[in-house]
Amino acid sequence: MCSECGATYGFTDIRQGFRCAKCGGVLDVKGFERVWSPAGSGISRYSSMLALTPVKSLGEGCTPLVAMEWRGLRIYLKLEHLNPSGSFKDRGTAMAISHAYRLGIDRVVEDTSGNTGISVAMYSRALGIRACIAMPRDAPEGKKLAIRLFGGEVIEASSRAEATAIAIDLTTKHGYYYIDHLSSPLYIEGYRTIAYEVFERIGVPDAMIVPAGSCGLLIGTYRGFEDLYRLGFARRLPRVVAVQGVEVAPLYEKVYGGKPGGGSSRIADGIRVPNPPRLAEAVDIVRSSGGRVVLVDDNEIVHALRELIDMGFVVEPTSATVYAALIKVVDDLKSLGVESVLLVLTGSGLKMLDKLYGLLTSSG
Ligand SMILES: Cc1ncc(COP(=O)(O)O)c(C=O)c1O
Ligand SMILES: [Zn+2]
Repeated sequence: MCSECGATYGFTDIRQGFRCAKCGGVLDVKGFERVWSPAGSGISRYSSMLALTPVKSLGEGCTPLVAMEWRGLRIYLKLEHLNPSGSFKDRGTAMAISHAYRLGIDRVVEDTSGNTGISVAMYSRALGIRACIAMPRDAPEGKKLAIRLFGGEVIEASSRAEATAIAIDLTTKHGYYYIDHLSSPLYIEGYRTIAYEVFERIGVPDAMIVPAGSCGLLIGTYRGFEDLYRLGFARRLPRVVAVQGVEVAPLYEKVYGGKPGGGSSRIADGIRVPNPPRLAEAVDIVRSSGGRVVLVDDNEIVHALRELIDMGFVVEPTSATVYAALIKVVDDLKSLGVESVLLVLTGSGLKMLDKLYGLLTSSG
């Protein structure tokens, strides 16, 4: 259902991206009842909570949750970088590619900063679908290589915006099926399972910290906790701390009404999304949950990367932003009475070891 004009669509009607054909608004999943009865493993454990379930599992979901005491807080690291293609995107892609498969689609296109492309190429390959991935030329080489390894065709664009234009062009003129993860409610559905898994282990944390690019992860995880709250299983909701880079920070600008002060956040390539389609929804979640938007720069991210590696977590720079943000807001959170914090580690550093090595040996 369209979040703007209320127009409704069946899942099978949607073939050219997940925007309302009448007004261009983003679409939400409505009209079915979520039932909490976890059974089995992977994200299919939560079939009765989800609008669709995957045709084929590559082992996505069921990621470890590591607990530790940290400067007077109990923190929980959700190791989403251990998903099959090395990022949390697999939860959404498993849904999206399964849906395309059920529609009988044989070629898909996606625009990405990298991780969704790797994930789409991997799941497409496993289901015999051809994948074409449009991405910025300056994306990490390791990510492009991973896409090619899974048989995806990489089209290099001069910018993230041009990558989107290429994807739309291939969809409208050449009959590709557009995965459209920035808008797709199927990705939000998949990310809900992060909250379900956390809830089964520890209940609801006082706060959660997530990197925010398109804000899909933020929205999906929060909606997952909200589902459990609505159904009467959870008794509260977490404060949402969203992290953006100082250079591209649309959520920060909307929540606080001002531009960030400057600096560089180039290495956080996964959260450089200037116009997130679901921005209003993310603003509402940050505000209503009593949360924050925290900005981090390259130096802070490198520092966080180093500390995470010291602890044994090899993540990519975009992913280290949550730890950089924790360092910045720890006192603020404590003053609000926060005792437990969920940090989602979103993407693996193993796709770019050369880059990580360069970052960690050239500074500090
Ligand atoms: C490693 C990593 N973390 C976080 C994000 C941001 O997720 P979202 O676009 O759902 O806000 C991305 C997006 O590409 C990513 O690749
Ligand atoms: Zn509409």
